Amino acid sequence: MSQRTFSIIKPDAVRKGHTGGILAEIEKAGFKIAAIKRQSISKDQAKGFYHVHSARPFFDGLTTFMSSGPIVLLVLEKENAIADLRKLMGATNPANAEEGTIRKKFASSIEENAIHGSDAEDTAAFEIGYWFAGYELL
Ligand code: CMP
Repeated sequence: MSQRTFSIIKPDAVRKGHTGGILAEIEKAGFKIAAIKRQSISKDQAKGFYHVHSARPFFDGLTTFMSSGPIVLLVLEKENAIADLRKLMGATNPANAEEGTIRKKFASSIEENAIHGSDAEDTAAFEIGYWFAGYELL
């Protein structure tokens, strides 16, 4: 059965002109783009999105980085979308990312790692609802 996941093309990748390249990889892997928008987000919006990481030492840097420039917000659809997108993204730290993954190709560090993808069904539901209104998901 078709499943939805949430993804962000992060500010490093948008700044470097990799938006189209990353979208091409996503579509080539069989995902349907169910919703898409490019916007800049505030530090407070980033803090709310990443609230599960609020106690981590990298929280301040992460939320500053995510609000440092435009990002592309995506809802992606396919069978097994959550696990398949994580596989296509590669390891969080691009130094450990496998050949052929988006992070191997486009990411430069554990923070500037080009793309986010939901890690489970409950987080996907929270993340989609955080950034998209119901009328944008028809
Ligand atoms: P993301 O999948 O967007 O979710 C949490 C983010 O925190 C993760 O991608 C990384 O970019 C970032 N992150 C995880 N660990 C570290 C770390 N040790 N230092 C800086 N950023 C980190």
